[in-house]
Amino acid sequence: MSVPYKHEPFTDFTVEANREAFEMALDKVAKELGQDFPLRIGEERIFTDDKIISINPAKKEQIVGTVGKATREHVKKAMQVALHAFEDWKQWDPEARADILFKAAAIVRRRKHEFAAYLVYEAGKPWKEADADTAEAIDFLEYYGRQMVELKNGVPVLSREMEKNRYHYIPLGVGVVISPWNFAFAIMAGTTVASVVTGNTVLLKPASTTPVVAAKFMEVLEEAGMPDGVINFIPGSGSEIGDYLVDHPKTRFISFTGSREVGERIYERAAKVNKGQYWLKRVVAEMGGKDTIVVDKDADIELAAKSIVQSAFGFSGQKCSACSRVVILEDVYDEVLKKAVALTKGVSVGETVNDMDMGPVNDQAAFDKVMSYIEVAKEEGRIVTGGTGDDSDGYFIQPTIVADVAPNARLMQEEIFGPVVAFSRAKDFSEALEIANNTEYGLTGAVISRNRRHIEQAKAEFHVGNLYINRGCTGAIVGYHPFGGFNMSGTDSKAGGPDYLQLFLQAKTISEQL
Ligand code: NAD
Ligand code: ALA
Repeated sequence: MSVPYKHEPFTDFTVEANREAFEMALDKVAKELGQDFPLRIGEERIFTDDKIISINPAKKEQIVGTVGKATREHVKKAMQVALHAFEDWKQWDPEARADILFKAAAIVRRRKHEFAAYLVYEAGKPWKEADADTAEAIDFLEYYGRQMVELKNGVPVLSREMEKNRYHYIPLGVGVVISPWNFAFAIMAGTTVASVVTGNTVLLKPASTTPVVAAKFMEVLEEAGMPDGVINFIPGSGSEIGDYLVDHPKTRFISFTGSREVGERIYERAAKVNKGQYWLKRVVAEMGGKDTIVVDKDADIELAAKSIVQSAFGFSGQKCSACSRVVILEDVYDEVLKKAVALTKGVSVGETVNDMDMGPVNDQAAFDKVMSYIEVAKEEGRIVTGGTGDDSDGYFIQPTIVADVAPNARLMQEEIFGPVVAFSRAKDFSEALEIANNTEYGLTGAVISRNRRHIEQAKAEFHVGNLYINRGCTGAIVGYHPFGGFNMSGTDSKAGGPDYLQLFLQAKTISEQL
């Protein structure tokens, strides 16, 4: 690929022409809502009687679309088809596989606002967040395509007199891709295309609250020339078909992104070798986070407050990277808190079609869970702004800051996955890092500081997969900030990074005596 990778630029919604274009896309998509989408197994398009109904979480009565719901029988069939398709797909020139990704990227780029509009309706994303999710999906297509081209001849190893050696990569087999709703486009697309550009075939099970954007992406891939059987689209309930997919003896690998609870379950089940299975399953799991912003005493306070508010409340705090804990040196604690509260009071909350700063949470279960943590907050700290919710029309919760929370409190330890952030004090920078590291997760973290020695200390001691200095802790960009966490945040993989594709490949050494 002659054009070097560069990330897809975000849309500037302060430009009137861009706003108009996006409003047109929202209108167009609003007229399309309610369509029915099939399962895709090989060349079959299967409309099931039992369907997943996808609704707009900002407006419960609005149906975004319905999507087929796969049963175990569908999964069984999809596995046979994927196994068969693998025999052909694995022999394709990697460059030809990558070309399908580049073509798909071009199609999505041309219809960028349309995809982002679907995310506004289906995931309740604010415009900016929907645009970023779409840009990230394009980035994954472009980046993994190029990575595959680079890997196609393997990696050089030494040969010697009378011996020629080669080290190259071959695919694994049939994989299961299980994706979350919070990056309904980017993560679903990224984990799927990484798995198939490497020559594997997959069964894709998107999240049940956001299957429509995934179904639209399947249409794009078909248009881009993805052969039938390479990606078998089997939306369904995680509890109904999840175990079956994971346990299947022909499943070679599982690429999972989601909660720690489900990730642990998959990891444990995948470890068992079932009858008819003759490999150890590989699991790539990207799980939760409890991400901290540390504010030093000589930090830029404005920057600190802005970074906290953006990282805590962007997409209603529903990012694995979201800031859910803030640790501030006591010298500046009151000042940072005051500024963060003032900024939070300016965050507009409402139906995201109307370009709000913050929309709803994902569904009733998310609403109930976050509201129950707000009850916990009343015991464990002091709610200084927010603390209320309303689920009458959509699942709205006001952005909530809880002050004076102890480092071991539940609010500081458990992933809430909503617009609630806990503030804690530290007496000095070393104690702030200790509090930040006092979590079973290790996904993202940020330090706001002007003190070079402290910045160096954080680089060495802050144990997170993605550490950011003097900025917020969300918004990793494919190819620039390879993304993935330590400890209970996952299996140490880095999506959008230079060594990600190898997770879906196995290396073969060939040594020939001359
Ligand atoms: P979830 O674990 O509830 O669901 C994720 C996927 O797993 C869905 O497709 C779901 O249907 C499926 N699933 C549910 N039960 C299953 C089972 N028994 N077997 C197999 N699959 C099953 O997570 P979610 O609510 O969709 O997403 C939010 C979570 O994802 C948060 O914890 C967040 O931190 C995490 N996340 C992590 C990353 C990362 O890169 N580390 C990125 C995004 C989200
Ligand atoms: N990649 C997403 C972020 O960095 C989760 O916010």
